[in-house]
Amino acid sequence: MTANGSAHVNGIKPTTPNFQLASRLKEGRALAQDVWSIFNAANLPADCINLGQGYMNFPPPQWVKDAADEALNTTVGNHYSHPKGRIRLRQAIKKRYDKILGRDLDVETEIQVTSGANEGQYSVFTAFLDSGDEVIMFEPYFDQYLPSVVFNEGKPVYVPLHPPPADMLNTTSNDWTIDFEELRRACTPRTKMIIVNTPHNPVGKVFTREELEKIADIAKEFNLLVMSDEVYDCLVFDGKEHIPIATLPGMWERTVSVYSCGKAFAATGWRVGYLIGPEHIIAPTLAACTRIVFCSNSPLQEAAAAGLEQAEERHFFEKQNKEYEERRNVLVEGFDRLGLKYTLPQGSYFVLLDISSLHWPEDFPFPKSVQGRGRDFRACWFIAMELGVSSIPVSEFYCEEHTEIGERFARFSFCKDLDTLKQAVERLQGLKKFLL
Ligand SMILES: Cc1ncc(COP(=O)(O)O)c(C=O)c1O
Repeated sequence: MTANGSAHVNGIKPTTPNFQLASRLKEGRALAQDVWSIFNAANLPADCINLGQGYMNFPPPQWVKDAADEALNTTVGNHYSHPKGRIRLRQAIKKRYDKILGRDLDVETEIQVTSGANEGQYSVFTAFLDSGDEVIMFEPYFDQYLPSVVFNEGKPVYVPLHPPPADMLNTTSNDWTIDFEELRRACTPRTKMIIVNTPHNPVGKVFTREELEKIADIAKEFNLLVMSDEVYDCLVFDGKEHIPIATLPGMWERTVSVYSCGKAFAATGWRVGYLIGPEHIIAPTLAACTRIVFCSNSPLQEAAAAGLEQAEERHFFEKQNKEYEERRNVLVEGFDRLGLKYTLPQGSYFVLLDISSLHWPEDFPFPKSVQGRGRDFRACWFIAMELGVSSIPVSEFYCEEHTEIGERFARFSFCKDLDTLKQAVERLQGLKKFLL
Protein backbone atom coordinates (compact mmCIF):
# COMPACT_ATOMS: atom_id res chain seq x y z
CA MET A 1 0.00 0.00 0.00
CA THR A 2 1.40 3.46 -0.87
CA ALA A 3 1.24 6.55 1.32
CA ASN A 4 -1.97 7.75 -0.32
CA GLY A 5 -3.60 4.37 0.12
CA SER A 6 -3.60 3.19 -3.54
CA ALA A 7 -2.39 -0.33 -4.24
CA HIS A 8 0.52 -0.98 -6.59
CA VAL A 9 0.06 -4.36 -8.19
CA ASN A 10 3.43 -6.15 -8.35
CA GLY A 11 5.12 -2.82 -7.69
CA ILE A 12 3.86 -1.37 -11.01
CA LYS A 13 2.65 2.20 -10.70
CA PRO A 14 -0.93 2.53 -12.07
CA THR A 15 -1.32 4.87 -15.04
CA THR A 16 -4.56 6.23 -16.48
CA PRO A 17 -5.26 4.21 -19.61
CA ASN A 18 -5.65 6.38 -22.70
CA PHE A 19 -8.83 5.01 -24.28
CA GLN A 20 -9.78 6.64 -27.55
CA LEU A 21 -13.38 7.91 -27.30
CA ALA A 22 -15.84 6.89 -29.97
CA SER A 23 -16.16 9.76 -32.46
CA ARG A 24 -19.96 9.60 -32.22
CA LEU A 25 -19.76 11.32 -28.81
CA LYS A 26 -18.21 14.42 -30.35
CA GLU A 27 -20.28 14.32 -33.53
CA GLY A 28 -23.46 13.87 -31.52
CA ARG A 29 -22.55 16.97 -29.45
CA ALA A 30 -22.60 14.72 -26.38
CA LEU A 31 -19.33 16.13 -25.04
CA ALA A 32 -20.15 19.81 -25.57
CA GLN A 33 -21.27 21.75 -22.53
CA ASP A 34 -24.99 21.75 -23.15
CA VAL A 35 -27.60 24.20 -22.06
CA TRP A 36 -28.79 21.97 -19.20
CA SER A 37 -25.41 21.92 -17.52
CA ILE A 38 -24.94 25.69 -17.94
CA PHE A 39 -28.39 26.62 -16.63
CA ASN A 40 -28.16 24.06 -13.88
CA ALA A 41 -29.31 24.72 -10.30
CA ALA A 42 -25.71 24.32 -9.13
CA ASN A 43 -24.61 27.35 -11.23
CA LEU A 44 -27.59 29.57 -10.43
CA PRO A 45 -28.63 31.45 -7.28
CA ALA A 46 -29.88 29.05 -4.59
CA ASP A 47 -33.42 30.49 -4.58
CA CYS A 48 -33.68 30.73 -8.38
CA ILE A 49 -37.13 29.66 -9.65
CA ASN A 50 -36.61 26.99 -12.28
CA LEU A 51 -38.71 27.72 -15.34
CA GLY A 52 -35.90 26.36 -17.48
CA GLN A 53 -36.23 22.64 -17.42
CA GLY A 54 -39.44 21.07 -18.61
CA TYR A 55 -40.41 18.95 -15.66
CA MET A 56 -43.21 19.48 -13.20
CA ASN A 57 -42.86 20.57 -9.59
CA PHE A 58 -46.06 18.67 -8.71
CA PRO A 59 -46.63 14.93 -8.38
CA PRO A 60 -48.58 12.54 -10.62
CA PRO A 61 -52.26 12.02 -9.63
CA GLN A 62 -52.68 9.99 -6.44
CA TRP A 63 -54.82 7.30 -8.15
CA VAL A 64 -52.02 6.69 -10.64
CA LYS A 65 -49.40 6.51 -7.89
CA ASP A 66 -51.64 4.07 -6.00
CA ALA A 67 -51.50 1.73 -8.98
CA ALA A 68 -47.68 1.85 -8.85
CA ASP A 69 -47.82 0.87 -5.16
CA GLU A 70 -50.18 -2.00 -5.92
CA ALA A 71 -47.86 -3.28 -8.64
CA LEU A 72 -44.85 -3.12 -6.32
CA ASN A 73 -46.77 -5.29 -3.88
CA THR A 74 -47.16 -8.11 -6.39
CA THR A 75 -44.38 -10.48 -7.36
CA VAL A 76 -44.80 -10.25 -11.14
CA GLY A 77 -44.89 -6.48 -10.95
CA ASN A 78 -41.26 -6.50 -9.86
CA HIS A 79 -39.89 -8.67 -12.62
CA TYR A 80 -39.14 -8.51 -16.33
CA SER A 81 -41.95 -7.54 -18.63
CA HIS A 82 -42.38 -8.71 -22.21
CA PRO A 83 -40.17 -6.53 -24.45
CA LYS A 84 -43.34 -5.36 -26.24
CA GLY A 85 -44.58 -4.00 -22.92
CA ARG A 86 -47.02 -5.37 -20.35
CA ILE A 87 -50.23 -6.57 -21.89
CA ARG A 88 -52.38 -4.49 -19.52
CA LEU A 89 -50.64 -1.32 -20.69
CA ARG A 90 -50.83 -2.28 -24.36
CA GLN A 91 -54.57 -2.89 -23.93
CA ALA A 92 -55.01 0.46 -22.18
CA ILE A 93 -53.13 2.18 -25.04
CA LYS A 94 -55.39 0.41 -27.52
CA LYS A 95 -58.50 1.55 -25.63
CA ARG A 96 -57.49 5.20 -25.91
CA TYR A 97 -55.77 5.28 -29.30
CA ASP A 98 -58.24 3.15 -31.29
CA LYS A 99 -60.48 6.21 -31.08
CA ILE A 100 -57.77 8.80 -31.64
CA LEU A 101 -56.22 7.01 -34.61
CA GLY A 102 -59.50 5.61 -35.95
CA ARG A 103 -58.14 2.04 -36.06
CA ASP A 104 -58.53 -1.34 -34.44
CA LEU A 105 -54.95 -1.50 -33.13
CA ASP A 106 -53.34 -4.90 -32.76
CA VAL A 107 -51.75 -5.04 -29.28
CA GLU A 108 -49.31 -7.73 -30.46
CA THR A 109 -47.91 -6.03 -33.53
CA GLU A 110 -48.75 -2.32 -33.56
CA ILE A 111 -47.93 -1.07 -30.06
CA GLN A 112 -44.50 -0.97 -28.45
CA VAL A 113 -43.93 0.19 -24.86
CA THR A 114 -40.61 2.02 -24.42
CA SER A 115 -38.44 3.49 -21.67
CA GLY A 116 -39.73 7.00 -22.21
CA ALA A 117 -40.37 8.46 -25.64
CA ASN A 118 -36.66 9.02 -25.90
CA GLU A 119 -35.68 5.37 -25.94
CA GLY A 120 -38.52 4.65 -28.34
CA GLN A 121 -37.14 7.21 -30.77
CA TYR A 122 -33.61 5.89 -30.34
CA SER A 123 -34.82 2.37 -31.12
CA VAL A 124 -36.57 3.51 -34.30
CA PHE A 125 -33.32 5.14 -35.44
CA THR A 126 -31.39 1.96 -34.60
CA ALA A 127 -33.89 -0.10 -36.54
CA PHE A 128 -33.98 2.06 -39.67
CA LEU A 129 -30.87 4.21 -40.12
CA ASP A 130 -27.86 3.14 -42.09
CA SER A 131 -24.67 5.12 -42.28
CA GLY A 132 -25.29 8.49 -43.94
CA ASP A 133 -29.08 8.24 -44.02
CA GLU A 134 -30.52 11.72 -43.65
CA VAL A 135 -33.14 12.67 -41.07
CA ILE A 136 -35.00 15.95 -41.47
CA MET A 137 -35.93 17.78 -38.28
CA PHE A 138 -37.63 21.13 -37.88
CA GLU A 139 -35.81 23.73 -35.82
CA PRO A 140 -36.04 24.50 -32.99
CA TYR A 141 -35.76 20.76 -32.32
CA PHE A 142 -35.91 18.65 -29.16
CA ASP A 143 -32.22 18.37 -28.35
CA GLN A 144 -32.10 14.57 -27.96
CA TYR A 145 -32.86 14.07 -31.66
CA LEU A 146 -29.37 15.10 -32.71
CA PRO A 147 -27.33 12.62 -30.62
CA SER A 148 -29.88 9.87 -31.15
CA VAL A 149 -29.62 10.23 -34.93
CA VAL A 150 -25.83 10.63 -34.93
CA PHE A 151 -25.19 7.71 -32.55
CA ASN A 152 -27.06 5.60 -35.09
CA GLU A 153 -24.88 6.95 -37.94
CA GLY A 154 -27.62 9.12 -39.40
CA LYS A 155 -27.16 12.68 -40.62
CA PRO A 156 -29.42 15.41 -39.21
CA VAL A 157 -30.77 17.88 -41.77
CA TYR A 158 -32.33 21.03 -40.36
CA VAL A 159 -35.33 22.94 -41.67
CA PRO A 160 -36.29 25.96 -39.58
CA LEU A 161 -39.77 26.86 -38.49
CA HIS A 162 -39.91 30.58 -39.30
CA PRO A 163 -40.85 32.85 -36.40
CA PRO A 164 -43.38 35.63 -36.85
CA PRO A 165 -41.92 38.97 -38.01
CA ALA A 166 -40.28 40.89 -35.15
CA ASP A 167 -42.84 43.70 -35.28
CA MET A 168 -45.91 41.45 -35.27
CA LEU A 169 -48.08 41.81 -32.15
CA ASN A 170 -50.08 39.13 -30.28
CA THR A 171 -48.42 36.19 -31.97
CA THR A 172 -49.43 32.60 -31.38
CA SER A 173 -47.51 29.43 -32.06
CA ASN A 174 -49.52 29.20 -35.28
CA ASP A 175 -47.57 32.19 -36.59
CA TRP A 176 -44.43 30.04 -36.77
CA THR A 177 -44.47 28.75 -40.32
CA ILE A 178 -42.89 26.17 -42.60
CA ASP A 179 -41.45 27.16 -45.97
CA PHE A 180 -42.52 24.09 -47.92
CA GLU A 181 -40.15 24.85 -50.80
CA GLU A 182 -37.31 24.89 -48.28
CA LEU A 183 -38.54 21.56 -46.90
CA ARG A 184 -38.69 20.06 -50.39
CA ARG A 185 -35.17 21.32 -51.16
CA ALA A 186 -33.91 19.58 -47.99
CA CYS A 187 -35.03 16.19 -49.35
CA THR A 188 -32.35 14.22 -51.19
CA PRO A 189 -32.07 10.61 -52.36
CA ARG A 190 -30.46 9.90 -48.95
CA THR A 191 -33.39 11.26 -46.92
CA LYS A 192 -34.83 8.38 -44.96
CA MET A 193 -36.92 10.01 -42.27
CA ILE A 194 -38.60 13.20 -41.17
CA ILE A 195 -39.41 14.05 -37.56
CA VAL A 196 -42.60 16.01 -37.01
CA ASN A 197 -43.21 17.22 -33.47
CA THR A 198 -46.75 18.37 -32.75
CA PRO A 199 -47.64 19.85 -30.27
CA HIS A 200 -44.18 21.31 -30.52
CA ASN A 201 -41.42 21.81 -27.96
CA PRO A 202 -40.46 24.65 -27.56
CA VAL A 203 -42.73 26.65 -29.91
CA GLY A 204 -46.03 25.24 -28.63
CA LYS A 205 -47.19 24.94 -32.22
CA VAL A 206 -50.03 22.54 -32.96
CA PHE A 207 -49.57 21.77 -36.64
CA THR A 208 -52.65 22.44 -38.73
CA ARG A 209 -54.28 19.85 -40.97
CA GLU A 210 -53.14 21.79 -44.02
CA GLU A 211 -49.52 21.82 -42.84
CA LEU A 212 -49.63 18.11 -42.03
CA GLU A 213 -51.15 17.35 -45.43
CA LYS A 214 -48.30 19.18 -47.16
CA ILE A 215 -45.71 17.32 -45.06
CA ALA A 216 -47.54 14.07 -45.84
CA ASP A 217 -47.38 14.80 -49.58
CA ILE A 218 -43.63 15.35 -49.38
CA ALA A 219 -43.18 12.20 -47.25
CA LYS A 220 -45.06 10.16 -49.86
CA GLU A 221 -43.22 11.76 -52.78
CA PHE A 222 -39.78 11.05 -51.28
CA ASN A 223 -40.76 7.78 -49.60
CA LEU A 224 -39.94 9.01 -46.07
CA LEU A 225 -40.59 7.27 -42.80
CA VAL A 226 -42.34 9.80 -40.56
CA MET A 227 -41.55 9.92 -36.86
CA SER A 228 -44.47 11.80 -35.38
CA ASP A 229 -43.42 12.99 -31.95
CA GLU A 230 -46.72 13.57 -30.15
CA VAL A 231 -45.51 13.45 -26.55
CA TYR A 232 -47.61 16.53 -25.75
CA ASP A 233 -50.77 15.16 -27.38
CA CYS A 234 -52.68 15.56 -24.10
CA LEU A 235 -51.70 19.22 -23.71
CA VAL A 236 -53.58 21.29 -26.27
CA PHE A 237 -55.28 24.60 -25.45
CA ASP A 238 -57.90 27.04 -26.69
CA GLY A 239 -60.00 24.27 -28.24
CA LYS A 240 -57.28 23.63 -30.83
CA GLU A 241 -57.34 20.12 -32.35
CA HIS A 242 -54.28 17.87 -32.26
CA ILE A 243 -54.14 15.84 -35.47
CA PRO A 244 -51.92 12.75 -35.60
CA ILE A 245 -50.33 12.69 -39.07
CA ALA A 246 -50.88 8.90 -39.09
CA THR A 247 -54.61 9.57 -39.56
CA LEU A 248 -54.13 11.35 -42.92
CA PRO A 249 -54.77 9.34 -46.09
CA GLY A 250 -51.91 6.97 -46.92
CA MET A 251 -49.89 7.93 -43.83
CA TRP A 252 -50.48 5.05 -41.39
CA GLU A 253 -48.16 2.79 -43.39
CA ARG A 254 -45.20 5.17 -43.13
CA THR A 255 -45.66 6.70 -39.67
CA VAL A 256 -44.54 5.78 -36.19
CA SER A 257 -46.26 7.92 -33.53
CA VAL A 258 -44.40 8.58 -30.29
CA TYR A 259 -45.99 9.15 -26.87
CA SER A 260 -44.85 9.76 -23.29
CA CYS A 261 -46.58 8.87 -20.01
CA GLY A 262 -44.15 11.32 -18.40
CA LYS A 263 -45.95 14.23 -20.06
CA ALA A 264 -49.44 12.71 -19.83
CA PHE A 265 -49.31 11.96 -16.08
CA ALA A 266 -46.74 14.45 -14.73
CA ALA A 267 -44.31 11.59 -14.25
CA THR A 268 -41.23 12.41 -16.33
CA GLY A 269 -38.98 10.26 -14.14
CA TRP A 270 -40.96 7.10 -14.69
CA ARG A 271 -39.50 6.66 -18.14
CA VAL A 272 -42.55 5.03 -19.67
CA GLY A 273 -43.53 5.86 -23.24
CA TYR A 274 -44.95 4.04 -26.24
CA LEU A 275 -44.86 3.84 -30.01
CA ILE A 276 -47.77 3.10 -32.28
CA GLY A 277 -47.37 2.15 -35.92
CA PRO A 278 -47.76 -0.56 -38.55
CA GLU A 279 -46.16 -3.95 -37.96
CA HIS A 280 -43.40 -3.34 -40.53
CA ILE A 281 -42.17 -0.39 -38.39
CA ILE A 282 -42.92 -1.78 -34.92
CA ALA A 283 -41.39 -5.27 -35.42
CA PRO A 284 -37.84 -4.06 -36.31
CA THR A 285 -38.12 -1.42 -33.57
CA LEU A 286 -39.05 -4.15 -31.07
CA ALA A 287 -35.92 -6.04 -32.16
CA ALA A 288 -33.83 -2.92 -31.42
CA CYS A 289 -35.60 -2.16 -28.10
CA THR A 290 -35.07 -5.73 -26.95
CA ARG A 291 -31.32 -5.41 -27.45
CA ILE A 292 -31.06 -1.91 -25.97
CA VAL A 293 -33.12 -2.12 -22.77
CA PHE A 294 -34.78 -5.56 -23.12
CA CYS A 295 -37.93 -4.20 -21.47
CA SER A 296 -39.20 -1.12 -19.67
CA ASN A 297 -39.67 -1.00 -15.91
CA SER A 298 -42.62 -3.12 -14.84
CA PRO A 299 -44.39 -1.47 -11.87
CA LEU A 300 -44.66 1.90 -13.57
CA GLN A 301 -46.05 0.29 -16.72
CA GLU A 302 -48.88 -0.99 -14.50
CA ALA A 303 -49.38 2.52 -13.11
CA ALA A 304 -49.41 4.01 -16.62
CA ALA A 305 -51.97 1.38 -17.61
CA ALA A 306 -54.22 2.42 -14.71
CA GLY A 307 -53.80 6.04 -15.80
CA LEU A 308 -54.90 5.37 -19.37
CA GLU A 309 -57.68 2.99 -18.30
CA GLN A 310 -59.30 5.55 -15.99
CA ALA A 311 -58.45 8.85 -17.70
CA GLU A 312 -61.66 9.02 -19.70
CA GLU A 313 -64.14 8.34 -16.92
CA ARG A 314 -62.27 10.73 -14.62
CA HIS A 315 -62.14 13.43 -17.35
CA PHE A 316 -58.51 13.61 -16.37
CA PHE A 317 -57.02 15.09 -19.54
CA GLU A 318 -59.75 17.73 -19.86
CA LYS A 319 -59.15 18.83 -16.26
CA GLN A 320 -55.40 18.73 -16.66
CA ASN A 321 -55.63 20.85 -19.81
CA LYS A 322 -57.62 23.49 -17.97
CA GLU A 323 -54.98 23.55 -15.23
CA TYR A 324 -52.19 24.00 -17.75
CA GLU A 325 -54.15 26.69 -19.55
CA GLU A 326 -54.44 28.56 -16.26
CA ARG A 327 -50.69 28.17 -15.64
CA ARG A 328 -49.94 29.44 -19.13
CA ASN A 329 -52.21 32.43 -18.63
CA VAL A 330 -50.54 33.42 -15.34
CA LEU A 331 -47.16 33.48 -17.07
CA VAL A 332 -48.21 35.37 -20.19
CA GLU A 333 -50.19 37.94 -18.18
CA GLY A 334 -46.90 38.68 -16.44
CA PHE A 335 -45.26 39.25 -19.84
CA ASP A 336 -48.22 41.41 -20.91
CA ARG A 337 -47.70 43.60 -17.84
CA LEU A 338 -44.12 44.09 -18.96
CA GLY A 339 -45.25 44.91 -22.49
CA LEU A 340 -43.05 42.10 -23.84
CA LYS A 341 -43.82 40.13 -26.98
CA TYR A 342 -44.11 36.36 -26.76
CA THR A 343 -45.50 33.42 -28.67
CA LEU A 344 -48.78 32.27 -27.11
CA PRO A 345 -48.49 28.46 -27.20
CA GLN A 346 -51.45 26.38 -28.34
CA GLY A 347 -49.94 23.18 -26.98
CA SER A 348 -47.11 21.72 -24.83
CA TYR A 349 -45.97 23.78 -21.81
CA PHE A 350 -43.51 26.41 -22.99
CA VAL A 351 -43.72 30.11 -23.74
CA LEU A 352 -41.14 31.72 -26.03
CA LEU A 353 -40.41 35.22 -24.83
CA ASP A 354 -39.01 37.72 -27.33
CA ILE A 355 -35.98 39.10 -25.52
CA SER A 356 -34.74 41.47 -28.21
CA SER A 357 -35.74 44.57 -26.21
CA LEU A 358 -33.86 43.38 -23.10
CA HIS A 359 -30.57 45.18 -22.42
CA TRP A 360 -28.22 44.57 -19.54
CA PRO A 361 -25.44 46.72 -18.10
CA GLU A 362 -22.31 46.55 -20.23
CA ASP A 363 -20.17 45.47 -17.32
CA PHE A 364 -22.48 42.64 -16.24
CA PRO A 365 -20.23 39.66 -15.46
CA PHE A 366 -20.91 36.65 -17.70
CA PRO A 367 -19.17 33.31 -17.27
CA LYS A 368 -17.19 31.81 -20.15
CA SER A 369 -19.89 29.21 -20.73
CA VAL A 370 -22.34 31.80 -22.10
CA GLN A 371 -19.84 33.98 -23.93
CA GLY A 372 -19.43 33.31 -27.63
CA ARG A 373 -22.90 31.76 -27.76
CA GLY A 374 -26.12 33.34 -29.04
CA ARG A 375 -27.28 36.58 -27.38
CA ASP A 376 -30.07 34.57 -25.77
CA PHE A 377 -27.51 32.72 -23.60
CA ARG A 378 -26.47 36.00 -22.01
CA ALA A 379 -30.08 37.18 -21.73
CA CYS A 380 -31.13 34.01 -19.89
CA TRP A 381 -28.06 34.18 -17.65
CA PHE A 382 -28.79 37.81 -16.84
CA ILE A 383 -32.47 37.10 -16.02
CA ALA A 384 -31.50 34.19 -13.76
CA MET A 385 -28.79 36.10 -11.91
CA GLU A 386 -30.52 39.46 -11.64
CA LEU A 387 -34.10 38.32 -11.02
CA GLY A 388 -33.84 34.73 -9.87
CA VAL A 389 -35.88 33.02 -12.61
CA SER A 390 -34.23 30.56 -14.95
CA SER A 391 -35.18 30.00 -18.58
CA ILE A 392 -33.51 28.31 -21.54
CA PRO A 393 -31.90 30.03 -24.56
CA VAL A 394 -33.64 28.86 -27.71
CA SER A 395 -30.61 29.05 -30.06
CA GLU A 396 -29.48 25.81 -28.38
CA PHE A 397 -32.18 24.09 -30.43
CA TYR A 398 -30.84 25.35 -33.77
CA CYS A 399 -27.80 24.36 -35.82
CA GLU A 400 -24.95 26.87 -35.88
CA GLU A 401 -25.93 28.48 -39.17
CA HIS A 402 -29.41 29.20 -37.81
CA THR A 403 -28.39 30.53 -34.35
CA GLU A 404 -29.62 33.95 -35.37
CA ILE A 405 -33.22 32.74 -35.66
CA GLY A 406 -33.27 31.27 -32.17
CA GLU A 407 -31.38 33.94 -30.27
CA ARG A 408 -34.40 36.25 -30.24
CA PHE A 409 -36.13 33.96 -27.72
CA ALA A 410 -35.94 32.54 -24.21
CA ARG A 411 -38.02 29.49 -23.31
CA PHE A 412 -40.03 29.55 -20.06
CA SER A 413 -41.75 26.33 -18.90
CA PHE A 414 -45.11 26.56 -17.18
CA CYS A 415 -45.33 22.97 -15.94
CA LYS A 416 -45.12 24.41 -12.41
CA ASP A 417 -47.72 25.02 -9.73
CA LEU A 418 -49.59 28.33 -9.74
CA ASP A 419 -47.84 29.72 -6.65
CA THR A 420 -44.43 29.19 -8.22
CA LEU A 421 -45.54 30.79 -11.46
CA LYS A 422 -47.06 33.78 -9.66
CA GLN A 423 -43.87 34.27 -7.70
CA ALA A 424 -41.81 34.02 -10.90
CA VAL A 425 -44.04 36.58 -12.60
CA GLU A 426 -43.59 39.03 -9.73
CA ARG A 427 -39.84 38.65 -9.89
CA LEU A 428 -39.84 39.07 -13.66
CA GLN A 429 -41.49 42.51 -13.30
CA GLY A 430 -37.99 43.61 -12.35
CA LEU A 431 -37.10 43.34 -16.06
CA LYS A 432 -38.94 46.61 -16.71
CA LYS A 433 -35.91 48.77 -16.06
CA PHE A 434 -33.82 46.76 -18.53
CA LEU A 435 -36.19 47.09 -21.48
CA LEU A 436 -35.49 49.54 -24.30
C1 LIG B 1 -40.56 16.90 -28.06
C2 LIG B 1 -40.12 15.85 -27.08
N1 LIG B 1 -39.98 14.59 -27.50
C3 LIG B 1 -39.60 13.61 -26.67
C4 LIG B 1 -39.34 13.87 -25.34
C5 LIG B 1 -38.87 12.76 -24.45
O1 LIG B 1 -39.91 12.28 -23.66
P1 LIG B 1 -39.63 11.19 -22.51
O2 LIG B 1 -39.33 11.98 -21.27
O3 LIG B 1 -40.86 10.38 -22.42
O4 LIG B 1 -38.44 10.41 -22.96
C6 LIG B 1 -39.47 15.18 -24.85
C7 LIG B 1 -39.17 15.50 -23.45
O5 LIG B 1 -39.01 16.63 -23.05
C8 LIG B 1 -39.88 16.20 -25.75
O6 LIG B 1 -40.02 17.46 -25.35
